[in-house]
Amino acid sequence: MTTTHRSTDAPLLSVEDLSVELRVGEEMRTVLKQVSFSVEAGQTVGLVGESGSGKSMTVRAISRLLPEGAQTSGRIGFDGLDVLDLRGEALRKYRASDVAMIFQDARAHTNPVRRIGDFLTESMILNGKIGRKKAEQTATELLEAVGIHDAARRLKQHPHELSGGLLQRVMIASAVAARPRLILADEPTTALDVTTQAEVMAILKRMQQEYGMAMLFITHDLELAGAVCDDTVVLYAGEVVEQQQAKRLHHDPLHPYTAALVQARPDINQRAERLPSVPGHPTTAYEAPAGCAFAPRCRFAQDRCRETKPELVAIGDHGESRCVRAVELRGTLLMSGTTPLTADTEEAAL
Ligand SMILES: Nc1ncnc2c1ncn2[C@@H]1O[C@H](COP(=O)(O)OP(=O)(O)O)[C@@H](O)[C@H]1O
Ligand code: SF4
Ligand SMILES: [Mg+2]
Repeated sequence: MTTTHRSTDAPLLSVEDLSVELRVGEEMRTVLKQVSFSVEAGQTVGLVGESGSGKSMTVRAISRLLPEGAQTSGRIGFDGLDVLDLRGEALRKYRASDVAMIFQDARAHTNPVRRIGDFLTESMILNGKIGRKKAEQTATELLEAVGIHDAARRLKQHPHELSGGLLQRVMIASAVAARPRLILADEPTTALDVTTQAEVMAILKRMQQEYGMAMLFITHDLELAGAVCDDTVVLYAGEVVEQQQAKRLHHDPLHPYTAALVQARPDINQRAERLPSVPGHPTTAYEAPAGCAFAPRCRFAQDRCRETKPELVAIGDHGESRCVRAVELRGTLLMSGTTPLTADTEEAAL
């Protein structure tokens, strides 16, 4: 079994100052601003933030699947490759065997008229490495590895005959088939009920450890990130606002936004979706105000926060925060009533 570990070698994936603009009509809109983080071999890094913060665009940039007309700057390094410069055969090989994606909506990423068996064997055969018979045998083994024991029957079925949880297991089997070194999992359990979510997560973690793969795990669920990740990167309005060890996030957040996510309790009626509810409305990178993007929702905001854009700075020896008050507020972010609400926050809460 491969365990996660830190090494002094270069990371497997390094995202450096990644900025992305997307075309909307005649206009280019910023969706990511100088995002930097890294993932080491075998490590699990969580990318956390509310809807619209730029999580999926980060993953799509890494897998070179951004919408047409997108403009990128910065660098994405993968084991010595400059991912943003890959073309032709080198790009095909990177996508086919270095990284693999698992999406939130498994059903939308399978063809309803193709059998599960064809879905699983197609890319193995296309990659030219093995014949149909061997591919079918591998598909059966993969389904068994993800806990589907009646594999022979399942291989003949169509996606609509499988539950969401079973289909997501098939997606995991498909993703690991080429033995990639990095799994990009974009909210892989969000569409599932809580029990199935736990089962699928356990399988994903087991496969990751058995195959020694690194994982970039995208979620808006801080609790889940804390449970499955080694490190966490928190995104707000297309920017990294905090980076630190996942296990510390819940009791020692370094940024007021992370603290607000920790304190947000999902509405009991929406428990299955586990939507965080931080007071106020999230902003996009494109619409973010000057200064701190979180200021309109921050209960600790002061005038200086709106005047200058905070830098991402190291706090202690285990994390980084993009908050000018991070050092001063450390240890108090989860307390209630220590700081009066600002006029902005009162307005947002109305
Ligand atoms: N095809 C697109 N064209 C223009 N803007 C987009 C497109 N897809 C997403 N966006 C915008 O990019 C931002 C980041 O989106 P996304 O990465 O999907 O967020 P997340 O995955 O964190 O919910 C959002 O503001 C979203 O509205
Ligand atoms: S810089 Fe100011 S507004 Fe932004 S998170 Fe820190 S305290 Fe809040
Ligand atoms: Mg998304």
